[in-house]
Amino acid sequence: MKATANAGSNIAFVKYWGVREDREGRRQALNPSVSMTLQKARTTTTVEFDASLRADECRINGRPASPEARERVVRVLDRVRELASIRAFARVASVNHLPTSAGVASSASGFCALALAAARAAGLSCEPEDLVPLAILGSGSACRSLYGGFVLWRPAGKGPGGSMVEQPPVAQGDHGLDETLVYPGPSTLEQPPVAQGDHGPHETGGDPGPSTLEQPGAAQGDHGLDETLVYPGPGVLEPRPAAPGGSKARATGDGPNQAGGVPGPPGFRRSRTACGGPNLACGVSGPPGFGAGSGESTVEQLATREDWRLVDLVAIVSREEKAVSSARGHLLAHTSPLLPGRLTSLASRIPQVVQAIRDRDLALLGEAMEADALSMHAVMMTSEPPLIYWEPATIAVIRKVMEIRAGGGPACYFTIDAGPNVHVITAPREAGAVRDRLGDVPGVREILSLETGPGAFLTDEHLF
Ligand code: DP6
Repeated sequence: MKATANAGSNIAFVKYWGVREDREGRRQALNPSVSMTLQKARTTTTVEFDASLRADECRINGRPASPEARERVVRVLDRVRELASIRAFARVASVNHLPTSAGVASSASGFCALALAAARAAGLSCEPEDLVPLAILGSGSACRSLYGGFVLWRPAGKGPGGSMVEQPPVAQGDHGLDETLVYPGPSTLEQPPVAQGDHGPHETGGDPGPSTLEQPGAAQGDHGLDETLVYPGPGVLEPRPAAPGGSKARATGDGPNQAGGVPGPPGFRRSRTACGGPNLACGVSGPPGFGAGSGESTVEQLATREDWRLVDLVAIVSREEKAVSSARGHLLAHTSPLLPGRLTSLASRIPQVVQAIRDRDLALLGEAMEADALSMHAVMMTSEPPLIYWEPATIAVIRKVMEIRAGGGPACYFTIDAGPNVHVITAPREAGAVRDRLGDVPGVREILSLETGPGAFLTDEHLF
């Protein structure tokens, strides 16, 4: 069967940087991350398993995939074949609707679309939680793109008190990834009450594009923005009712069951069961530390794009393919002496970002987001060998963003992925003014304007 999926890229507010190997030899992210899925920066991928093929065929943007990309695609296809008990090779075509390596990660949208299309083509479940491990096999950040709006990914493992300490990324454990460094300690981490409410449904409305999928019924539960998700410790965040407009957003939704249209609430994991208990270190439920507390990652939608719309203005300062891919960069993180400090700071940063999303508080979000980007780049720059992704214009854009705010201009905040281009996050009503100001910065070649987008969905617009 042939299936086609469309998925958006995402911009991380709290970055995933660094991997470790788990006991099964699988790469696992070192830390949870929080992102916003993007509209427009999307990938369409068609997959067809065909018994007459003698090998997997893979084309990206009309050309045969590079050996590195092909290897990652085949890794996903192999897993799909294993799960579906099929042997046929597949024909894969993928088109990015933004230039590859333009500073907006096409690997996230690409591998998310691949996971959904391949699962559908093989007759597997298209529930997002079932697609998470498949997407991660291709690219870690791809699992966040399964969902629209604002998304939290908690990697597998029990965190500093568990697998991360037992199996630190630095095999010898000499970089201090132990409880003292990465965990605020029991005194600051008291048990929060476990929320009783439903973690809720998923996006159900909006117009993510043509789809063969039936519109799922509007879900009845809560957004998942409950106290288990956001509670970072006693006295910090009191349980509170869902944000205004929340139920409306659920009812009107954000696109048909974006990750496959399979009946049933597709968007949210019930993190209580998935994560196994309160976890204050990250402000989310689960055992203490950074992991999901299970053998698998969990991904949760924190808010839909109906709940909060932001704009990501991407100031393109270079279109060069980056010299060191994220995949390779992740392997260097443990060589930085600053990594333990970064991981420690996430214990308070993640709850802050989750709260900011829940409260639609751009200033709170922006402060944490900028600190996180700088912390990730500090780790990159102090790795061995150092990874310096910035160009002079990168710093010029950072300074411009700070200048705009200092001068009482529109609220806008920067973040930077593994590249030189700067993502400036602002409210839709301010986007025009911010864009004009960024356009004045020497070295800025182009500015893309990307809004909060829906999650992945199936479509019948096949590429072949
Ligand atoms: C800096 O998901 O691209 O964009 O899992 O090796 O494919 P792989 O890495 P990838 O890493 C993303 C790195 C980042 C931060 C982020 O998006 O969280």
